[in-house]
Amino acid sequence: MLPVNWRKRSDGLAQTDVPLAPRTSWRIGGTADLFVAPRSPAELAAVLADLWRTGQPWRILGGGSNLLIGDRGVRDVVLQLGELQAISVDGARLRAEAGADLQSVVRAATNAGLTGAEPLAGIPGNVGGAVFGNAGGRYGAIGPLVCELELVCPDGTRQTFVPGQEFFEYRKSAIGERIVVAATLQLSPAPTVDVHDRAKSIFSERAASQPGWIGNAGCVFKNPAGDSAGRLIDSSGGKDMHHGGIVVSPTHANFFENPNLDGTSDDVCHLVDKVRTTVRRHHGVDLEWEVRRWGL
Ligand code: EPU
Repeated sequence: MLPVNWRKRSDGLAQTDVPLAPRTSWRIGGTADLFVAPRSPAELAAVLADLWRTGQPWRILGGGSNLLIGDRGVRDVVLQLGELQAISVDGARLRAEAGADLQSVVRAATNAGLTGAEPLAGIPGNVGGAVFGNAGGRYGAIGPLVCELELVCPDGTRQTFVPGQEFFEYRKSAIGERIVVAATLQLSPAPTVDVHDRAKSIFSERAASQPGWIGNAGCVFKNPAGDSAGRLIDSSGGKDMHHGGIVVSPTHANFFENPNLDGTSDDVCHLVDKVRTTVRRHHGVDLEWEVRRWGL
C-alpha cells in the first residue's frame, strides 16, 4: 500500500506517475507510481522510517547513467536525492552530497588545488551512484578516495563511518540496502594548473574513445579479469550488431547506443543476449552485466 499521507502532500516531496526515461541517460523506461525527492538528509531519514513502518519497497535513483529501467516502469517507491548537491572543501578533504554531479566534484577539487579526483573527469553520474558502484576508469576509481561515508539505513537511522580497504571492489561497494547521503574524499594539495591539465587530459582521452553521455549507459558489461569486454565484443564482430532501436556503438563496443532515443528495454535485453552468445562462442567468456536493471 502506498503511503497515502505523501500522495496528499502538495509541497513537492512526492509526485505520482512520473516518467523515468528522461531521468536515465539511455532515455528508456516506464513510469514510477510514486516518486519522492527528499530535500535534506533528515527528510530522507523520515521518509525511510515511514517506508520501513509500512513495509513499502523502494529503490534509489542516482544520476541514471548506469541503469536500465523496464518499459513497464516501477511499482516500488522511487527515491532521488537530486536536491542534495552541496560540495565543501576543508583542507585536503572534499565533502560532496549524494546528488552532486561528478564533474562538479572534479571542478571543485581543481579550483581548490587538490589532486586525486581527476580519474573521475568525464564520468557521467552523481556522487551517490558513483560511490555505490565504485565508478572509475583506467586511472582509478572513487572508492579509494573515500575517507568518510554518511549513509541512511533502511529503517531511517543514520550512520557515519570510515570505510575500510575491503569496502570497495571493482565496480562494487558494501553499501547494500543503505543510501549514500554524502561522501568525503581525501585528496592532496597540488598546483591548480597541474590538476586542471591532468583532468582535461583524462576527459579528452575518454571523449575520444567513447560515445557522448546521452543515449547510452556507459559500459554495459564488466570487464572480465585481465581483459576488456569492449575488445572481446569488437573482435567477435559485435560492432555490426543491433536490435530494434539499439545498436552496438561504433565508437566503443561495450556501449550500446539508442541513437534515435526510440529503443526499448526489450531491445537492449535482446541485444545483450545476442552479444553475450557471440562472445561466448568466440572467446569462451561469459560477460556479466555492469548496468543495474529495474523492472525487467
Ligand atoms: N577496444 C577495442 N574495441 C572497442 C573498445 C575497446 O578493441 O570497441 C580495446 C581498446 O583498443 C583497448 C582495450 O580494448 O586496447 C581497452 O579499451 P578501453 O581503454 O576503452 O577500456 P575498457 O576496458 O573498454 C574501461 C572501463 C571504462 C572506462 C575505460 C577508460 C569497464 C567495464 N570499463 O573500459 O568504464 O571509462 O576503461 O578508463 O571497467 C564504465 O564502467 O561504464 C566505463 C565506461
